[in-house]
Amino acid sequence: MEPVLIMGGSGQAGAGAAAVLRRWHPELPLTLAGRDLDRARKVADGLGAATAVTIDLRRDDLGLPEDGKYSAVVAAVWDSHLNGLRYAQGRGLPYLSISNGLVDLAPEVFAVAQRASAPVLLASHSFAGLAVLAALDAARRFERIDAIRIALILDELDAGGPAAVADLDRLMAATSAGLVRRDGVFAWVDGEEARVEVATADGVVLAGQTIAIPDVPSVALATGAPNVRFDFAVGESAGRRGGGPASVEVRIDLAGTGPGGTPLGVSRRLAHPDGQRPLTALGIALGVERLLGEPVAPGVHAPEALLDPALAVERMVDAGTVLTDT
Ligand SMILES: NC(=O)c1ccc[n+]([C@@H]2O[C@H](COP(=O)([O-])OP(=O)(O)OC[C@H]3O[C@@H](n4cnc5c(N)ncnc54)[C@H](OP(=O)(O)O)[C@@H]3O)[C@@H](O)[C@H]2O)c1
Repeated sequence: MEPVLIMGGSGQAGAGAAAVLRRWHPELPLTLAGRDLDRARKVADGLGAATAVTIDLRRDDLGLPEDGKYSAVVAAVWDSHLNGLRYAQGRGLPYLSISNGLVDLAPEVFAVAQRASAPVLLASHSFAGLAVLAALDAARRFERIDAIRIALILDELDAGGPAAVADLDRLMAATSAGLVRRDGVFAWVDGEEARVEVATADGVVLAGQTIAIPDVPSVALATGAPNVRFDFAVGESAGRRGGGPASVEVRIDLAGTGPGGTPLGVSRRLAHPDGQRPLTALGIALGVERLLGEPVAPGVHAPEALLDPALAVERMVDAGTVLTDT
């Protein structure tokens, strides 16, 4: 097989995904790309069966040699000019991206609507789609779902590398409003209405806000839940408060009816003691593995349309995620 080209492969998300793919598929060749060749090479050398290249996101050939051959393109850095997507489309290669907020997904979607020459996995969800998949896995116990609330607590020391911090600034500047689904209608909430409180596992309450993130339409449309919101808080994590490293936490509350129409509520907590990095890496790796597996039709795909929620949860637990349902 030709190598998987990971743009941003020397960064936190890209290098993490490369390491997971290497564990699962020792023979899968990888090409890690960034601006700094030495940095990419160091990561590649540590992995084995991997090479390093420089890329220029401003060029439609990415500045790669003409004879370069790849099996897929992963954008583990914001594909600012959509040249990575264009490169993949021109060669009929599967493409996966993780860096668009809900408000700047449209150019990517239009690019694929105009030229559906390859499968494109939109994975700009939290942990590249894993929170959505965990919610859908819990949703299987319900006959009908009335409401889903996802709350993510990120440690302030675990916001990712410089590229992730720049993305967060870009997205926060684009809109402070959150997208919710309320009584079946997708609606924007802002100001006081978007301000929320999020409780950590050890009972500390953090101030947060309802945000616009692809998880909302994904979860709402996949479950049919008429009420969906995604709350986000950044602060000191329970892990760090307990003297350990920065941890990450997600709480997914589902309400509806179970078999026979009896009222049912499930609260699922996911926590990773090492923070968001292992989960982001896992989400990307699952997507890449899927895109390289059974053929995927050209066009736009969401993680929940391609990946089995039960498999995703199993891999999350294997990767050290603590999952509890109450
Ligand atoms: N959806 C999710 O769940 C999720 C989670 C975490 C992160 N993310 C996104 O993933 C991306 C990477 O985050 P991160 O924490 O891995 O950041 P990071 O550690 O700063 O890594 C960025 C990577 O991209 C490369 N890079 C940066 N600017 C570049 C440019 N102009 N041209 C070519 N390569 C460039 C860097 O290498 P050089 O510096 O050598 O160029 C590095 O390999 C961000 O866009 C972030 O928003 C998404």
